[in-house]
Amino acid sequence: MQKSSRMHCPIWRFFEELPDRGKNCGPQLSILVRRIKSVQSHFTGLFSQLRLRDLLLPNRIAVSPMCQYSAVDGFVNDWHFVHLGTRAVGGAGLVLTEATAVAPEGRISPGDLGIWSDSHVAGLKRAVDFMHAQGAATGIQLGHAGRKASTSPPWEPARLIPVSEGGWDNILAPSPVSFSEHHATPKALTLDDIQGLKEAFVTATQRAVEAGFDTVEIHGAHGYLFHQFLSPLSNQREDEYGGSFENRVRFLLEVVRAVRTELPSSHPLIVRISATDWLEFDKQHHPDAHGWTVQQSLRLAPLLQREGVDLIDVSTGGNVAKPTIPVGAGYQTSFAASIREQAAIATGSVGMISAPEQADQIIRSGQADLVLLARELLRDPYWPMRAAQQLRHDISWPAQYVRAAGGHKPPRQPFLPADPKQP
Ligand SMILES: Cc1cc2nc3c(=O)[nH]c(=O)nc-3n(C[C@H](O)[C@H](O)[C@H](O)COP(=O)(O)O)c2cc1C
Repeated sequence: MQKSSRMHCPIWRFFEELPDRGKNCGPQLSILVRRIKSVQSHFTGLFSQLRLRDLLLPNRIAVSPMCQYSAVDGFVNDWHFVHLGTRAVGGAGLVLTEATAVAPEGRISPGDLGIWSDSHVAGLKRAVDFMHAQGAATGIQLGHAGRKASTSPPWEPARLIPVSEGGWDNILAPSPVSFSEHHATPKALTLDDIQGLKEAFVTATQRAVEAGFDTVEIHGAHGYLFHQFLSPLSNQREDEYGGSFENRVRFLLEVVRAVRTELPSSHPLIVRISATDWLEFDKQHHPDAHGWTVQQSLRLAPLLQREGVDLIDVSTGGNVAKPTIPVGAGYQTSFAASIREQAAIATGSVGMISAPEQADQIIRSGQADLVLLARELLRDPYWPMRAAQQLRHDISWPAQYVRAAGGHKPPRQPFLPADPKQP
């Protein structure tokens, strides 16, 4: 139920206004108010469950994909196991992996995770099994860096990593347009290359299901391969994959269709997009350039939904080297809200979400169905447990930690994955 329609309901309004009604009354009434609020938040707030196909998330908090630049040849190692595992222990309902490359030349850096070979599955499965045991659902972000490949990790000066240092030179993109002085000038993908990439996403999906992931997120944002096709700034093709809106969205839609066909029907499919290149909001510096815009995202969303996408994870930017972005708390949430409202599809909101009340409000007000946190969950992997405490909501704690919880906390139960149903 959207917030506006909920507020027409007098019972709902009574509960919404409970904090005010509970003010200045005796301790017993305020305990009652707290209990009622807690029951209410069980159904509507940050700690309510979210169903996407057969996947039932225990809460609305997701670990946003975060590259760790720590893999060798794409393999999961102890770092990834602990990094992902800790965030599952921390109580996030869904843990998404970093952008995991479907082809070796699709890595952003030589240290990215990969899933281009069967031998990558075992390490991923070990991490997935552990996260499930801690009560979290799991998702893999499948990606290809396109023209932004073979670069240094962010803690080193920005540069292109040469072949002599483990980089590669077959850097591929829709058009031979470089992203910045720290990036290669890519080779334009041929039609055969495009076909090959589609197959790489399909094979990666099969491997992700084998590893036990509950959902797949296609990385269509942040100036990586799909976004390079979407935006006219990076797509100057003259064939059926460039030019008009229909042509620029074609590659993403074809991959989505192919991945959806491969993914069990029980498993939801998520796509992350950048809602805008931000140039449309910066007429002063870019009077004539528009790039990818909110309007185009609003046209794309229903097309994605028609292809079987269950949730759009709405980010922004990444395809312009020096953009002007009004970064601030929740600065991308309005885009998730407009897509949710206008395209009638579930959305995730990401970007500068750090206060529990802020995250809770995004869900309650119907701006998004899921919040994805990145840096806040690096600062504090136990943020979901802390947020629950702050919002006065009882969530389970790992049985091993219950003694530190204060008050009675139910011990965490393993997450039960849906049975993969044939597509
Ligand atoms: C260390 C780090 C690595 C990231 N790697 C990815 C990635 O692999 N895929 C992706 O879609 N976004 C990536 N992001 C972006 C985050 O998922 C998120 O969209 C962004 O940080 C904004 O959210 P925040 O304000 O909660 O940090 C990364 C962010 C950080 C901080």
